[in-house]
Amino acid sequence: MRKKTLIAPSILSADFSNLGQDIEKVKAAGADWLHIDVMDGHFVPNITIGAPVVKSIKKHSKLFFDVHLMISDPLFYLDDFIQAGADLITFHKEIQTPSQNLIQAIRKSGIKAGISIKPNTAVAGIADLIDQTDLVLIMSVEPGFGGQSFIESSLEKIASLRKMIDEGGHECLIEVDGGINDETAARCIEAGADVLVSGSFIFAAQDMRGAIERLR
Ligand code: DX5
Ligand code: ZN
Repeated sequence: MRKKTLIAPSILSADFSNLGQDIEKVKAAGADWLHIDVMDGHFVPNITIGAPVVKSIKKHSKLFFDVHLMISDPLFYLDDFIQAGADLITFHKEIQTPSQNLIQAIRKSGIKAGISIKPNTAVAGIADLIDQTDLVLIMSVEPGFGGQSFIESSLEKIASLRKMIDEGGHECLIEVDGGINDETAARCIEAGADVLVSGSFIFAAQDMRGAIERLR
């Protein structure tokens, strides 16, 4: 039997003026990880937060910090996010920097490394990396904004990645991000997801604990 599904609320949907409080709320509601969306206005058409914010929330939370870098030059900012307290750093396959260089640089610092693919990037493109990486993040929306609808073709990508990982006997986790709610979550888990990111569904819920339980 596979392990229980991990739930990673995305703080992109939190109230940034009450960030500390919102993080405590999701922790109390049963969150396993905290998903932190970093956007640079270049790789994606939106700007969010940087390492200083990660550093200040780290002082108030013991949750596992899952940092999703939607930025064009992660190598340049890597040390800042590591120093700020990231436990896992995920970068995008679609950038210029070779993935191997980034995975090595992240792991050398003693934290976990993840690689993410956008909806139009095929799973085959990262097949040779799954034995070197701790996690693959399948984007189930175009990265950039919370609250979008789940892209159905993501399910086939999850299933084919699951097959590759299991057949190869790899440890790599599968994370899915974008449009996750109580209906899409069940299908992602069935297809083989290990970690579900969810922003708007969790933060819009009156009963956060119930929402997290329903996702699981
Ligand atoms: C989108 C981000 C997601 C987003 C998820 O670029 O990577 O983490 O916040 O938000 P929902 O769950 O609302 O789709
Ligand atoms: Zn994300």
